[in-house]
Amino acid sequence: MKKKWWQEAVVYEIYCKSFCDSDGDGIGDLRGVMSKLHVLRDLGVNCIWFTPIYTSPQVDNGYDVADYRNIDPAYGTLEDFKKLLDMAHGMGIRVIMDMVLNHSSDECEWFKESRKSKDNPYRNYYIWQPPKPDGSPPNNWGNYFREGNGSAWEFDAATNEYYLHQYSIKMPDLNWEYKPLRREIYNMLHFWLDLGVDGFRLDIFTRFKKPEGFPDTKKAPDLLLDRNGFVMDPSMCTNVEGIHEILHELYTEVFGPRDCMTVGEGAGVSHKNAADYVGALRQELDMVYHFQLSHRKLYSISTEHFRTVQKNWAEVLRKNAWAVQYLSNHDSARQVSCYGCDDERYRTDSAKLLATLIHTTPGTPFIYQGEEIGMTNVKYDTIEDYNCCYTVGDYHAMIASGVSPKEAIDLLAPRSRDNARTPYQWDGSENAGFSTGTPWIKVNPNYTHINLEADRANGDSIFAFYQELIRMRREDPAIIDGDLRFLLDDHEEILLYTRACIRQTLLVVANYSEKNVHFSIPEELENSSWRRRLTNKMDTTPSMGGSRDLLPWEVEIYELAR
Ligand code: GLC
Repeated sequence: MKKKWWQEAVVYEIYCKSFCDSDGDGIGDLRGVMSKLHVLRDLGVNCIWFTPIYTSPQVDNGYDVADYRNIDPAYGTLEDFKKLLDMAHGMGIRVIMDMVLNHSSDECEWFKESRKSKDNPYRNYYIWQPPKPDGSPPNNWGNYFREGNGSAWEFDAATNEYYLHQYSIKMPDLNWEYKPLRREIYNMLHFWLDLGVDGFRLDIFTRFKKPEGFPDTKKAPDLLLDRNGFVMDPSMCTNVEGIHEILHELYTEVFGPRDCMTVGEGAGVSHKNAADYVGALRQELDMVYHFQLSHRKLYSISTEHFRTVQKNWAEVLRKNAWAVQYLSNHDSARQVSCYGCDDERYRTDSAKLLATLIHTTPGTPFIYQGEEIGMTNVKYDTIEDYNCCYTVGDYHAMIASGVSPKEAIDLLAPRSRDNARTPYQWDGSENAGFSTGTPWIKVNPNYTHINLEADRANGDSIFAFYQELIRMRREDPAIIDGDLRFLLDDHEEILLYTRACIRQTLLVVANYSEKNVHFSIPEELENSSWRRRLTNKMDTTPSMGGSRDLLPWEVEIYELAR
């Protein structure tokens, strides 16, 4: 069946704030992105996802939107954005916008009105509840960022009611039960589509619907992090009955008629419920990305886990649905530091191996900025250098629980989202070529040797390896259409799988470890002739017969000769 453009695409996520600063204020901006678009074209990607660039007080780096129809002045103007769209489209690159529709900023006009009085026309744009008889919040839910006293409800003296905020106190949840709010959102989405954007990434869409009556959670408090008996329990507002009605209406009002691409952030989505959201006949979303391979709290992946997740998602694809492949984004740590190896000996090889896994398994690959040059985690010594709301919130909760500052940083640093948010390392000049001013967040000091310029000048370039993988996606039908089959199913270090369609069979073999591994090639592969197409170890001899060795983090792609 003919594929949709987004099934054939490679998406590149731009965290604008940290990408490229054109005016020296230390904050990346749209002109900076425009000045680097040719790099993305060279890489071969054909779609960009912009994390939120709307007007925002930047409490959560733009995920707190104050004006849904404008660009934050720190990033540029609507005119700049239109120019960027034209430029990208001229290069064959589509652009999708991040839509944050679970909450807005408290500085959004809608909320400013809403909090004024109970009969304000905007009152029901948000979720207001009276206090309990003793004046306490409506229930025991905690907020994700551990702000204030820990509650997910904030009291507003103007009207003597509480509003719900699953995240920051400054990010009140929107009320999807209220039809005029829905209409406002549909009109706003049409505004961006009229401007020429090609689709949307939907921020935490699984949490739009709240449970009726706002019941208490029964989950036990996390003694280290939950405060004052307010329990952070994502399950309370995730995948609540009625969520599909909301998404289907979004589809019928906007996504369907405009034929735009949609990808949802699938918090709480697994292979078990994914087809309910992305099955082609459901008319809800095109794709969701899940957290089964990449998560803020997942420190490593075993070969067994990788196989299980991929097999499960291959089943989702068989249900007339589609998948996203990725290992990191702006909400995680750097993939090479978590799932590969960031010490200099294996950084390049493991970065290429991870890229191969993502680009050769079924679905649409998403690249997060910097991954294509093997950018790594950073470690700051004091909490003042961290910006991520989770890291800062968890840190203060830990200190209140008696953990020492050093211990708290040691625990939080490896998974802080700030690892992914350090400025892009363009070259070895001051501030990694990101800005002539002081960057909003400190650059990773390893920019002197890990940067785009150095990588591309190197015969062993990670960027060039990504280019090859992306080229294969354009030229090799099995990458998009091939059925996935794992061999050596129990091997602890070796991942071996084929992707086969009528026109082609590809085979990927990878040593997902830091050891030299000796293993036997499965007999069924031996009597065929395999041609090596890509490897991260040019000086080894290709072989698909008998027994053989693979070096640490070695990966190869073969094609079956016909
Ligand atoms: C999503 C975003 C994340 C943000 C959160 C609240 O998870 O990806 O960056 O902090 O939603 O909007």
